[in-house]
Amino acid sequence: MIEIEHVHKSFGSLKVLDDVSLTVNTGEVLSIIGGSGSGKSTLLMCINGLEPIQGGRILIDGTEVHAKGTDLNALRRNIGIVFQQWNAFPHLTVLENVTLALRKVLKKSRSEAEDIAVKQLKHVGLGDKLTTYPGKLSGGQQQRMAIARALAMSPRYMLFDEVTSALDPQLVGEVLDTMRLLAEEGMTMIVVTHEMQFAREVSDRVAFFNQGKMEEIGPPEQIFDAPHSDNTKKFLANVR
Ligand SMILES: Nc1ncnc2c1ncn2[C@@H]1O[C@H](COP(=O)(O)OP(=O)(O)OP(=O)(O)O)[C@@H](O)[C@H]1O
Ligand SMILES: [Mg+2]
Repeated sequence: MIEIEHVHKSFGSLKVLDDVSLTVNTGEVLSIIGGSGSGKSTLLMCINGLEPIQGGRILIDGTEVHAKGTDLNALRRNIGIVFQQWNAFPHLTVLENVTLALRKVLKKSRSEAEDIAVKQLKHVGLGDKLTTYPGKLSGGQQQRMAIARALAMSPRYMLFDEVTSALDPQLVGEVLDTMRLLAEEGMTMIVVTHEMQFAREVSDRVAFFNQGKMEEIGPPEQIFDAPHSDNTKKFLANVR
């Protein structure tokens, strides 16, 4: 489980996360919504230990991410991240792109790495693209390759940061369907998204961020149909 306790994060004098606390339980899907600059991406970076924090703490399965002596590489192996765009290696095939970290980081043999990569590429519907080069994939296929690459490392958690926002509208659905499948399989996920329908249908809970604060968190029906906070209401009125 992921426990975020009273986290404060600033970039210089700019306060980006202001006393944020929330817990994501094993098997849970949490969607994070909120306006641009509200701190959503920064929170994911802090969870993964890619950004330091100035107060509070973040625990992954009881291990404090920012404590001295924490093995961040070991911790990160349990956390897959998929961003808006992932720059795959253009000179490597889809299969080679997905096996790379398995071989270099997890030191798997070629055949073992390929077995895992093929399995995950089939999982995301790219079983017929193994020998294709990334430049020949559609945006939706590239994002599914990025998901397969993360899944190949057998993470316990998956973090998604607006993975569909750079896609043409007709390609969004296939990527959301892949994420929906992972959710149904019980993957623990934090999904930063602008796709409100997806957040409503797939999440166990939705958190609304506003100016670095977690303004409101609750089941999707509550957040979308009966938000408590005026800022949540205002935000939702503008995105609908
Ligand atoms: N490396 C950085 N250095 C300085 N300021 C940063 C850095 N990264 C983010 N910020 C600032 O922190 C604030 C929060 O940024 P963040 O990227 O977390 O927002 P976000 O909620 O993900 O927004 P968006 O919806 O646009 O992706 C913004 O004001 C941003 O300009
Ligand atoms: Mg962001």
